[in-house]
Amino acid sequence: MYSEKVMDHFMHPRNVGEVENANGIGTVGNATCGDIMKMYLRIENDVIEEVSFKTFGCGAAIATSSMATEMIKGRTVKDALNLTNKAVMEALDGLPPVKVHCSVLAEQAVKAALSDYYTKQGIDPLPIVGPVMNDVHEHDNLGE
Ligand code: FES
Repeated sequence: MYSEKVMDHFMHPRNVGEVENANGIGTVGNATCGDIMKMYLRIENDVIEEVSFKTFGCGAAIATSSMATEMIKGRTVKDALNLTNKAVMEALDGLPPVKVHCSVLAEQAVKAALSDYYTKQGIDPLPIVGPVMNDVHEHDNLGE
């Protein structure tokens, strides 16, 4: 049911915990399954210098948040903005259809942390980051 990569990131999640001096922190959840994901970023000169997460959730949520942090670590803010749940799923060699929303949680947690970063800089995040789904269930309701 789960790929080896999903199992690996679930059993040995990368970048777990909090980043000291994080300048972008975002939390999203899914009211339906009750899972919560918190993402921490330390951004310097438009580069994600440090990233970590804390996930209270299912195995797929842990694996996707772990992979998402690996995919944006050391990359530019622009790269992080372009991270999609599809790319995270592909990097994990796929997820079962009922677990797709878990990867959306990871995508939205990164966006929430980036929004917080811009807000702290005194910049309106909406035109740059777009709307953040704090409850990913809203996404399910769109039929995606
Ligand atoms: Fe909800 Fe995985 S079951 S995040």
